Amino acid sequence: MSEFTYRNGMLHAEGVSVVDLAERFGTPLYIYSRTHLIRQYQALAEAMKPIAPQFYFAIKSNSNLAVIETLGAQGAGADVVSGGELFRALRAGISADRIVFAGVGKTVAEIDYALSEQIRFFTVESEEELTRISERAVAAGCVGRIAIRVNPDVDPHTHKYTSTGKAENKFGVDLSRAEKAYEQALQLPGIEVAGLHMHLGSPIMTPAPYAEALEKVRPLCERLKKEVETFRHLDIGGGLGISYRPEQAPLDPRDFASAVLPALHGLGLAVGMEPGRFYTGNAGILVTRVEYVKQNPFKKFVIVDAAMNDLLRPPLYEAHHEIVAVQQTDEQIFGDVVGPVCESADFMAQNRELPAVESGNLLAILSAGAYGFVMASNYNARGRAAEVMVSGDRVEEVRARETWEELVQGERIPTWE
Ligand code: LLP
Repeated sequence: MSEFTYRNGMLHAEGVSVVDLAERFGTPLYIYSRTHLIRQYQALAEAMKPIAPQFYFAIKSNSNLAVIETLGAQGAGADVVSGGELFRALRAGISADRIVFAGVGKTVAEIDYALSEQIRFFTVESEEELTRISERAVAAGCVGRIAIRVNPDVDPHTHKYTSTGKAENKFGVDLSRAEKAYEQALQLPGIEVAGLHMHLGSPIMTPAPYAEALEKVRPLCERLKKEVETFRHLDIGGGLGISYRPEQAPLDPRDFASAVLPALHGLGLAVGMEPGRFYTGNAGILVTRVEYVKQNPFKKFVIVDAAMNDLLRPPLYEAHHEIVAVQQTDEQIFGDVVGPVCESADFMAQNRELPAVESGNLLAILSAGAYGFVMASNYNARGRAAEVMVSGDRVEEVRARETWEELVQGERIPTWE
């Protein structure tokens, strides 16, 4: 169920008119629905209730402090992949003992920071990383809790750039080496073996790959549970798909639970999950104003004030995002929605039936709450968009639009003489 619906022909975010928001905060504008975030959290928690997992919100999907805080207040911890994300999670009030830290390239500084905060565990992606965490923990006189990220070599049937659990991907330690890596971990000083982690990729539209991967890692989990007293966690990653098209059925949490719960049954481990997009994807839209409509000999271009620097998914993954008119219309045109950036890759939709719009009208790009703002850049010296959060009839600006002045802060012109 969407929180972005039409009332009297005008798009609303929960109880608030999108036209009003665009006028008040300007465009391009990210709008998030707090109700949607909470509903998604509760739907998955309800479906998975028999094992009551710890949810670690993958804050890479949307790391606005207000979004993290909303989910944290529901009980979510955080899955972080950098020192910056750890900082954000803590700043948003997530306690360190509910934070797990993944990523193939953790630096010494990041490891030291996470150790000093005593996070729940590191998701370890290589043997060398194990050694590094051990050395840093010994130096700091503390213990680094770890879960090895096992790459189960399962095809999640998603875009090649967002598949992570296949043998050829850079992530994790393949199953055949994992046992050795655990032996190594058990020998190393300053390391506590806390669990096992896997993440297959995203978005995953059926639960089958999870069940397949769990079947593969289960024997190792059982053995470790028996042999290692501190081995208590199984983190099954994130990647749960959402619908990006009206005709596309999202992954139903109840179907997910029916497929995955039997595979976890009787393991006796504390299960963790790391959803990102499932919470945030359809909690957000990107609102943009039409600047020009241009017809060239080949096609029509709707030129808007949002660009690839605001939403990179269409050019990067050829991802589909629905685009609707904020003021409903039945008339359609055919063409592309493009931004002002100087690249032919700067498109939000190509060769599409679009609502008939003209200069000054507003469009909403849907399903933009995940991997939208977080992947924004300052390309073409464009400040990043403002972000607002809506809850019922209430609106809060949760990040101000970036100014040109802010863009040059930190730069200096040297005097060479
Ligand atoms: N856990 C780990 C270890 C991950 O690497 C990821 C995503 C997640 C959890 C959360 O996945 P989610 O539930 O959000 O699908 N930029 C791409 C997606 C990259 C995903 C990277 N890792 C996109 O726009 O589709």
